[in-house]
Amino acid sequence: MAASASSLLAAAASSSCAAISPRIPRGAPAAASVPSPSHHSCPSLRASPARRHQSRFVASVAPTMQPPAESRVSTVVDVDLGDRSYPIYIGAGLLDEPDLLQRHVHGKRVLVVTNTTVAPLYLEKVTWALTHNNRNVSVESVILPDGEKYKDMDTLMKVFDKAVESRLDRRCTFVALGGGVIGDMCGFAAAAFLRGVNFIQIPTTLMAQVDSSVGGKTGINHPLGKNLIGAFYQPQCVLIDTDTLNTLPDRELASGIAEVVKYGLIRDAPFFEWQEKNMSALLAREPSALAYAIKRSCENKAEVVAQDEKESGLRATLNLGHTFGHAIETGLGYGAWFHGEAIAAGTVMAADMSHRLGWIDESIKKRVVDILEEAKLPITPPETMTVEKFKSIIAVDKKVADGLLRLILLKGPLGSCVFTGEYDRKALDETLHAFCNN
Ligand SMILES: NC(=O)c1ccc[n+]([C@@H]2O[C@H](COP(=O)([O-])OP(=O)(O)OC[C@H]3O[C@@H](n4cnc5c(N)ncnc54)[C@H](O)[C@@H]3O)[C@@H](O)[C@H]2O)c1
Repeated sequence: MAASASSLLAAAASSSCAAISPRIPRGAPAAASVPSPSHHSCPSLRASPARRHQSRFVASVAPTMQPPAESRVSTVVDVDLGDRSYPIYIGAGLLDEPDLLQRHVHGKRVLVVTNTTVAPLYLEKVTWALTHNNRNVSVESVILPDGEKYKDMDTLMKVFDKAVESRLDRRCTFVALGGGVIGDMCGFAAAAFLRGVNFIQIPTTLMAQVDSSVGGKTGINHPLGKNLIGAFYQPQCVLIDTDTLNTLPDRELASGIAEVVKYGLIRDAPFFEWQEKNMSALLAREPSALAYAIKRSCENKAEVVAQDEKESGLRATLNLGHTFGHAIETGLGYGAWFHGEAIAAGTVMAADMSHRLGWIDESIKKRVVDILEEAKLPITPPETMTVEKFKSIIAVDKKVADGLLRLILLKGPLGSCVFTGEYDRKALDETLHAFCNN
């Protein structure tokens, strides 16, 4: 494996480059007017119904997807994919609004896919929301073991077992209730069951609310690599009830922040600057800060996905730090580090390599380290990840195409990035040796 990894990395060294120029997303505030949590357009998550209604913010809404006038939805972000478009509803207490969920249920049978941690917290509430004043719908559930190490074929089969035993038909709807692991597995099950049934995402971790529930990447891990088996399959809607974060442990919250930081670095400098000023508010779970971070992250992801749903180019930039990060997850054993923790260390390694290539200033590299450190995330890989271990795992990364490894690196000013392989092997080797034992 190590020999082929070396030749692959060498091949990458001579590949061509496609740079993404710095890009300020539509509707982004100018740097000087970046909203602070205390006075931006998102209402307090604990606002009274009247206040909520007054300050309701709608980023982009398809005409048929408007929430009711008195809804607690504070933001709707539309993922614009033609006939596969869907809304992301964001707000506090959205699971108390049965209509939001029920309008996206197809058929009379629903299968809620969740896990042993989330089920006791939210399954009853979701079942109520699906069935309230709606006797036509019957709800089944399958409760999977909790953890990244169960994001595999055996556990996926439990979803199919339940669906088949319950005689669900093509008109059923799958509902993913949980973090990114459940969302990825339920989505993949929905893509494959009877060659595709409807599904809804109800993400309950920050990681899932800012990233994994949006964009339709679904799948499971292979023992040799993360997320190697899966499908692009879009949900009917994403319902983000920010109240669910109240039960999320601090370590899981910090893990989600790693992906929030990513959006700032690759395409949204004002958002990154806002994060630098508001990291303590995010860690303290100030409702308005969290609401803004979720909204802005979903807007960034929706814009990228709308332009490149199947990752033929632009979408790959969302993988900043992921080649190194996925290697850490695979090398350590799935679940030993949280996904966002591995991505944080991977992002620092990507920034280091970008700096070695002369693509970013020392000051940007330092800001990357500082913000992730402030978020209490790791900034170096674990000691057991040796240089050779990294190389052998990276060789089977999804981002290898035609024998070339596509590393996402930073280039230019803040909020800019580059993808594909215009780097020399020396810089990669130097970064690996700087961070890892031989
Ligand atoms: N599809 C995508 O585009 C995409 C993007 C990013 C990450 N991912 C995937 O997402 C996964 C990581 O997601 P994650 O960080 O949400 O991990 P996770 O799903 O394992 O959830 C983390 C932990 O939080 C628990 N939990 C969930 N909601 C809770 C709540 N409200 N209160 C208390 N505990 C709660 C879970 O049971 C779990 O123990 C990885 O498998 C990663 O590959 C996918």
